[in-house]
Amino acid sequence: MTYTDKDRKFKRYTVTTALPYANGPIHIGHMAGVYVPADIYVRYLRLQGEEVFFIGGSDEHGVPVTIRAKKEGCTPQDVVDRYHTIIKNSFEAFGMSYDVYSRTTSSTHYKTASEFFTKLYNDGKFIEQTTKQYYDEKEGTFLADRYITGSCPICGNENAYGDQCEKCGSSLNATDLINPKSALSGSAPILKETKHWFLPLNDYEEFFKDWILNNHKEWRTNVYGQCKSWLDNGLQPRAVTRDLDWGIKVPLENAEGKVLYVWFDAPIGYISNTIECLGENWKKWWQDKETKLVHFIGKDNIVFHCIVFPAMLKAHGDFILPENVPANEFLNLEGDKISTSRNWAVWLNEYLEDFPQKQDVLRYVLCANAPETKDNDFTWKDFQTRNNSELVAILGNFVNRTIVLTHKYFNGKVPARYELNEIDKQAIEEIKTYPEKIGTLLETYKFRDALFELMNLARLGNKYLTENEPWKTIKTDENRTSTVLNISLQICANLAVLCEPFLPFSAKKLQKMLNLNVHSWQQGGNVDLLRENSAINPAELLFERIEDEQIQRQMDKLNESKKHNTLNNTKANPQKANINFEDFEKMDIRIGKILEAEKVAKTKKLLKLKVDTGIDERTIVSGIAEWYSPEEIVGKRVAVLVNLAPKQLKGIESQGMILMAENPLGELSFISPEKEFNPGSEIR
Ligand code: MF3
Ligand code: ZN
Repeated sequence: MTYTDKDRKFKRYTVTTALPYANGPIHIGHMAGVYVPADIYVRYLRLQGEEVFFIGGSDEHGVPVTIRAKKEGCTPQDVVDRYHTIIKNSFEAFGMSYDVYSRTTSSTHYKTASEFFTKLYNDGKFIEQTTKQYYDEKEGTFLADRYITGSCPICGNENAYGDQCEKCGSSLNATDLINPKSALSGSAPILKETKHWFLPLNDYEEFFKDWILNNHKEWRTNVYGQCKSWLDNGLQPRAVTRDLDWGIKVPLENAEGKVLYVWFDAPIGYISNTIECLGENWKKWWQDKETKLVHFIGKDNIVFHCIVFPAMLKAHGDFILPENVPANEFLNLEGDKISTSRNWAVWLNEYLEDFPQKQDVLRYVLCANAPETKDNDFTWKDFQTRNNSELVAILGNFVNRTIVLTHKYFNGKVPARYELNEIDKQAIEEIKTYPEKIGTLLETYKFRDALFELMNLARLGNKYLTENEPWKTIKTDENRTSTVLNISLQICANLAVLCEPFLPFSAKKLQKMLNLNVHSWQQGGNVDLLRENSAINPAELLFERIEDEQIQRQMDKLNESKKHNTLNNTKANPQKANINFEDFEKMDIRIGKILEAEKVAKTKKLLKLKVDTGIDERTIVSGIAEWYSPEEIVGKRVAVLVNLAPKQLKGIESQGMILMAENPLGELSFISPEKEFNPGSEIR
């Protein structure tokens, strides 16, 4: 038998979510990877009556923040203040049920992180090493890896960063780059000696092999696999300080200009935020063996949460280690990697503007499609389908039919249950299995499967209602209708309990409709949740259809981003071979004025133009119909190559060529004189 978390009993749960960098808003990739599953897990545990402390916060140090500040011409503090607020509001709006959401620029965090470092330092847990790092002499500063660009030694990309080549995906050391350049001054950096403190991870290798490889075989394969590959390659000492001015100052003498490495301070933020919220009472959440610590993260954070942070906690000595680290893979968007810089993302704040009150729809789609075992794709089409044919057609429809019928036949009162037949008994038996089934999946971090089971309960309801046709039996056997609606209402009530972790907003709405007070997961599986004769409120729609136009608007938005990126990121074609002046002089280019224009029949691209070239009035056929309509161009002055040999196009003789500029999207534009020069003026 494989061991699962469930086999060990804990008294309480500390659940953390990766602290997002406060250098941009939150998008669906963050939500699907980390926040939606974590919130589902925590809401479930609370309903189970477990004691939970749920921790979030913003990660406000690190080079990404300083880069953003530099770009926007403001201070790093301005950047994090702005995005911390935006992120915090988005999380609130989407129902993230944090016990604390704070930030790594809080004074509590500075104190906690400094003390943590100092303890490790005093206990001799660090080694000091002097290494050579790139230094920008013009700016008088050491350069973070992200601030160095150069040619990738693997693929030759000239714009690789000191930590990574975004073209071929290789992870690099700054010293690997060919022709390194400082992103600050543009000059070539020099290598200069600098002293740093390192955590010798290699000392913990045996410990990690035993702890993870032997004792946590139940971790997700992607997580376990990454840890194994790190351990197989051998662990190296890791620097926990950096030469930067944005961060927490290294709390030692003679450490001017040095700060804690962001990946040292940020995870301590989980602890700081607990302290900030609970004061003296924080310890049991971090230091009691009966507390289960679970980190929700994305896959790029795996080593930090499975190896580096645990090594820090172990070196410190007073802390528990994570029991599980359910990391997700990545979510793509319409087949492309989500990217902040390319604005290829669905931002939460924008989503809520476009789809007000539809938090649960996004939570649903992101969970149903969560990248739990492999990268997954978010598409707007799938979003629409899951809303229309799952939330609306299955869950919403079942609840609505049941409540409407209850009002129609029984004045909105829960009708009695009379004699049960085999179908009823079977349905009741099945209802009872769901809390356990869904619960077990949630406890083993299988959120997609858990959500699928929840929907199966709604499917069961629909099927039960359809098969028993209470709208027919009402004419012949009112007691039968009464029984069927009673059982259907009990299914609704079960849904109102069990959907709470996944769809908290809709759960509330449904509970209100049913006048049901939900406080425990154990209420699920019960078919007497709604008492006979108790009142039900009128039906309200839980979900509404999303129409094609709404989806099209989102696709248009994305296409705009794509266009914008193509325009800004496409390099100009390389220069052609040199020509001499005589070659150039052979071309006779003039200003021409368009006198008439009409579409060439049976073509999409061609316009037939009459052009005044100053020399004559002539016919020119031009492939510009996709970019200009005949009406808008009459009277325009444009550049014309007049001595191009005439050519038959669609049976029309074209006498010359209109010169056009073409952008990377293939769009065409006239080249027009900046002053109103007469037709015939020569261009040279
Ligand atoms: N800011 C990091 C990221 O977005 C995550 C930090 S998690 C923490 O990748 F543990 F360091 F807080
Ligand atoms: Zn490369």
